[in-house]
Amino acid sequence: MDPAVAAPETAELVRAGGEHVPALMRRIEERLRSDGAAHAGPLAEHGGTTIAAGGKRLRPLLVLLAAGAPQDPDREDALVRAGAAVELIHSATLVHDDVLDAAALRRGKPTVVAQAGREMAVATGDALFARAFAALTEGGDAESVRVLSDACSSLARGELLQRADAWDVGVTLDRYLLRCELKTARLFEAACRLGPLAAGDAELRLDGFGRRIGLGFQILDDVLDVSGPVERTGKHRGTDLLDGTVTLPLILARERDPALTELDLRAVTSPAQAEELCDRISATGALDAARDHALDLVAQAKRDLDPAVLGDGRAQALALVADSVVQRYS
Ligand code: IPE
Ligand code: IPE
Ligand code: MG
Ligand code: MG
Repeated sequence: MDPAVAAPETAELVRAGGEHVPALMRRIEERLRSDGAAHAGPLAEHGGTTIAAGGKRLRPLLVLLAAGAPQDPDREDALVRAGAAVELIHSATLVHDDVLDAAALRRGKPTVVAQAGREMAVATGDALFARAFAALTEGGDAESVRVLSDACSSLARGELLQRADAWDVGVTLDRYLLRCELKTARLFEAACRLGPLAAGDAELRLDGFGRRIGLGFQILDDVLDVSGPVERTGKHRGTDLLDGTVTLPLILARERDPALTELDLRAVTSPAQAEELCDRISATGALDAARDHALDLVAQAKRDLDPAVLGDGRAQALALVADSVVQRYS
């Protein structure tokens, strides 16, 4: 398999980024494969299979697109390190997230926690986190390390808030959006910051763009959890509901279907019951309303892209990524 086109969903975006992007994505993929399996024994096995399972590689792509075409080979190396680092953090987070969410499937394959237990999954995630920072520090840029470490702290806070809110069907929209911002959007924002930093363009700020598409991305993810199907998403429908995670589709469905205000999420214990609840949520029209919310965020994000600052090519490529966030199926 050609690593540069490992994710069919992003292949078109990779090409749209310009001539340098496919080659750099390939180098990032190679680096990921070796870093993922860099630790000894079972950590190499589970880190390696986590990376090899693929994924859309959207965050490293954002690093590259936010950076524009690098001017010299040193900048290329810095971009490869930054792209690999952000994807290693993302992968580490998913391995840990599947422990917290007790998830069975990830990227269409059994999760590390399902396959090898909680201790192994915690250790595998830790090992991937460690490799990410090792990769970034090779370049010696303290600001990049700070940016990524801030995003990691936000992620941890977001995941904890989500657990604290578990089973609370009355959770507010603002609280839900805060969780999404912390657990997902800040890493998108970091990717959009790491690219320009690696390219030597510290003045360029795409923070608002990164944050908004990250938020839209998480909302769409939460829609896909309800809409499925598993063949597309690589995850069972209703996984969030089964582990007590209340997301935008249910928040909006409760406003539309009075019977849902009586819902006791703890009584939803089987995959079949979760699927049935997914159908009830969907019947209220809440999925379309949630998708509209994500579309608004993407439209706002695109307004932040100034071709006079970014150049036409970079602005267009980033706008395509923004659109892809709400058009995706996995
Ligand atoms: C999944 O992210 C976790 C969320 C933030 C919703 P992705 O959908 O980018 O996961 P992969 O890397 O493509 O598997
Ligand atoms: C996103 O949350 C995971 C992180 C950002 C840590 P989800 O729990 O919704 O992600 P999936 O659905 O498991 O991929
Ligand atoms: Mg999860
Ligand atoms: Mg999800």
